[in-house]
Amino acid sequence: VQTAPSSFDPRDFRRALGTFATGVTIVTARAPDGMPVGITANSFNSVSLQPPMVLWSLANTARTREVFSTSSHWNVHILSNAQEHLSNRFARAGEDKFAGLALDESAFGAPLLQGCSARFECRGAFQYEGGDHTIFVGEVVAYDSCALPPLLYLTGEYALASRKAAPVSTEPQADMAGASYSEDLLGYLLGRAHFQFMHHLRPALQAYQLSDADFFVLSLLSVRSPLSEADMAAYLSYTGVHFDAAQCQAMVARQLLEAAPQEAGQASRWHASAHGRQAIAAVLALATQAEEALVARLGEIEAAALRNLLKHLILATDPGLPKLWRSPTAP
Ligand SMILES: Cc1cc2nc3c(=O)[nH]c(=O)nc-3n(C[C@H](O)[C@H](O)[C@H](O)COP(=O)(O)O)c2cc1C
Repeated sequence: VQTAPSSFDPRDFRRALGTFATGVTIVTARAPDGMPVGITANSFNSVSLQPPMVLWSLANTARTREVFSTSSHWNVHILSNAQEHLSNRFARAGEDKFAGLALDESAFGAPLLQGCSARFECRGAFQYEGGDHTIFVGEVVAYDSCALPPLLYLTGEYALASRKAAPVSTEPQADMAGASYSEDLLGYLLGRAHFQFMHHLRPALQAYQLSDADFFVLSLLSVRSPLSEADMAAYLSYTGVHFDAAQCQAMVARQLLEAAPQEAGQASRWHASAHGRQAIAAVLALATQAEEALVARLGEIEAAALRNLLKHLILATDPGLPKLWRSPTAP
């Protein structure tokens, strides 16, 4: 335990404070000459409901300090998950932070940014000295909010929120020949979640008599097509599905695949036939329905957190697959 303030290591103190999760806000005001000013701040907090009041604190070294301390009004914007770039922009000194941003009308003059999870228009009520910061307390005179997932800040990094889940099972542990696992084993959670989700797709898979391997091939071709047998085998290797010329011919015979026009000297390449495209569209329609039902149950905030974690997991477990999705900047 660190005791005397003089002995605090500033970086370690900052790190300890960073364990307190916050949202991220941009606070804006307008200078007397009409110039908009704004700064990224995670020191925001609620203070009072009746009257409605909030607070945030500003470093005394901030270039915008003079403007904030003399402004009658300022606006607090709770940033959404999609606004990380704005947080970074408003945390950097020395650039035109408002360049290219569409603003809404505010009755009290301070700039009002768009696309936020919530916005609070405030009348500056009190200012307090707080060490090397000034604490601003404001009375909320107007606000709005929407369902956009908020951006969080935790241990010095942007984060997403999710509520703690209830236990999945009541069995504390399974034991087999000394190898034990609980419901917290990631492999178990992933496998169970995968199969429970796939269960919703089975009616379409069965209607078109698609095996899991057929489904993988057709969904691969719906993202990237045409592909040679070798390409398809490489893309599918991680699924455990073995794909070779015989499998390919079997899918052609079942009218799921057909040959793409061949260029001289190139290996045969394949794309989904009209029937194959119809089959995968039916499966994707059920997948979309299942996703909508899941998102409705989880809520947008958790759905965003889940996508984020699954992307982490996919990167962390990538066995070195060829890139499937084209980068948005690629030609
Ligand atoms: C996530 C995050 C939270 C921040 N919170 C605060 C804060 O609460 N108060 C503050 O003074 N600076 C905070 N900063 C730093 C300011 O945004 C930064 O110093 C900014 O450049 C100040 O703008 P100015 O120099 O144009 O006034 C934060 C930065 C980040 C990235």
